[in-house]
Amino acid sequence: MPVLHCSEVSVHRGGVHALRGVSLEIAAGEAVGLIGPNGAGKTTLLDVLSGFLPPGSGEVRIDDRHLTKLDPGRRARLGVHRTFQGSRLFTGLSVQENVQLGALSLGVDKAEVVRRTDELLGSLELEGLRHRRCQGLPQGVTQRVVLARALATRPQFLMLDEPAAGLSEVETEEFEQSLRAARAEGTAVLVVEHDMRFVESVCERAYVLAEGSLLFQGSVQETFASPAVQAAYLGTTDVTAA
Ligand SMILES: Nc1ncnc2c1ncn2[C@@H]1O[C@H](COP(=O)(O)OP(=O)(O)O)[C@@H](O)[C@H]1O
Ligand SMILES: [Mg+2]
Repeated sequence: MPVLHCSEVSVHRGGVHALRGVSLEIAAGEAVGLIGPNGAGKTTLLDVLSGFLPPGSGEVRIDDRHLTKLDPGRRARLGVHRTFQGSRLFTGLSVQENVQLGALSLGVDKAEVVRRTDELLGSLELEGLRHRRCQGLPQGVTQRVVLARALATRPQFLMLDEPAAGLSEVETEEFEQSLRAARAEGTAVLVVEHDMRFVESVCERAYVLAEGSLLFQGSVQETFASPAVQAAYLGTTDVTAA
């Protein structure tokens, strides 16, 4: 089973230590949460893992294969893919076309693009919206299409940056269902999210960042029970309120 590692990663960004010696591992098929207050360095860590930002020091690997110097496109071809905080769709295109664009980056033939798109529209319950233009879609649907577009590349490791932000309770549950479909295909998920109920429902393990440092790692239950984790959230997001 392949494992994605980042080891002792440090990043200086905007005059601050955005990350200080952070190490993390995700094995194929796992669902792992990445939590922490605003500004903790969560997005920066996804930037480093996905190749959008070179770390000042430290390395990123899949098993023994070094990724640290590879650009995002090369990493995507090795199965490492991410979505962005506030991900947007091509609003002038249909749901189907947005997912097809993801599949096209597989570099496969047209028949396979159509097949993979159909498969995802089915498993993520988007079939009825296939021909809807993405302009003005509810946020919950948008996030499911963003997920489908990312899954179209058949990533081995998928990183999601706050996918449930702005979603209603019902939309969040629908998104969780969609993530289960992704995991059933064997995709490992690293998800940044403030909604603790979501993290609890989706993830087995979690890492907690605070001010660029790894504050805690453990099972989701251990994480939420940790006084250090609860203290890190005081004044930002109340970890016990979810
Ligand atoms: N593009 C950027 N330019 C300069 N500083 C940045 C940039 N992105 C993030 N930072 C800084 O890096 C730190 C970590 O930010 P970020 O990774 O976005 O945190 P999080 O995702 O946990 O809210 C913050 O102090 C933030 O101001
Ligand atoms: Mg962020």
